[in-house]
Amino acid sequence: MLQIENLSKQYANSGVYAVENLNLTVNPGEIFGFLGPNGAGKTTTIKMLTGILPFQYGRISVAGIDIKADPIGAKRNIGYVPDSGVVYDKLSGAEYLNFMADVYGVPANARREKIDALLATFNLTDAAGNQIRSYSHGMKQKIVVIGALLHDPKLWVLDEPLTGLDPQSSFDLKNMMRRHCDAGNTVFFSTHVLEVAEKICDRIGIVNKGHLVFVGSMKDIKEWKRDESLEKLFLDITGADPFQ
Ligand SMILES: Nc1ncnc2c1ncn2[C@@H]1O[C@H](COP(=O)(O)OP(=O)(O)OP(=O)(O)O)[C@@H](O)[C@H]1O
Ligand SMILES: [Mg+2]
Repeated sequence: MLQIENLSKQYANSGVYAVENLNLTVNPGEIFGFLGPNGAGKTTTIKMLTGILPFQYGRISVAGIDIKADPIGAKRNIGYVPDSGVVYDKLSGAEYLNFMADVYGVPANARREKIDALLATFNLTDAAGNQIRSYSHGMKQKIVVIGALLHDPKLWVLDEPLTGLDPQSSFDLKNMMRRHCDAGNTVFFSTHVLEVAEKICDRIGIVNKGHLVFVGSMKDIKEWKRDESLEKLFLDITGADPFQ
């Protein structure tokens, strides 16, 4: 579903690679967690695979479509939840969702039911008529999540999606991620929350200083370094443990 080959990216004003020679395949039906410390290259990778950032070397394909050769075709298969919130915050929630449905070509008759169901799931039905800029952080996050799902994307990409969500919304979002995968789709998300990765991911990748340093299941990682807490393991792998 998602294939990344020899991906490297250097920002124009930087002497180092933000992401270097990254290789990864994520399969249909899989929830993949992308972990790493601040500045590791998670957002950079996510922006490249969603076609937002250009890259110098390598190849990315989504549902078999090369993101450079056919960016629009690849993006039709992607739902993206960025870490930075909503851009169109002067729109009401309902206007924003209709706009997203237009962008992704969701037919008018199919969108009504879907929008209503998702608004209800996330407790946003009453707020849908209000401007997004009046929303709380969590409400903004939730409206973006709904907007990303309207076209039923094969690949759902989320950058730090649980930040700022209350326990119920967090629970609902995790369930939604699982349901999306159970329907044969793929979820790729970044997180700092190790317990979340442990609970819901089929596999995780750990990135450090632009390099993918581990890919596998939680079982693999625990077998690799027995008797260590998840937190200690993570700090060991990313070299951030001051007590090492
Ligand atoms: N626009 C930019 N210009 C130059 N360098 C950048 C830019 N954006 C990110 N970087 C650098 O690229 C590296 C990776 O950053 P990135 O935002 O991908 O990290 P991250 O893993 O998402 O971190 P966080 O957990 O804090 O969100 C960092 O060294 C960062 O300073
Ligand atoms: Mg980031």
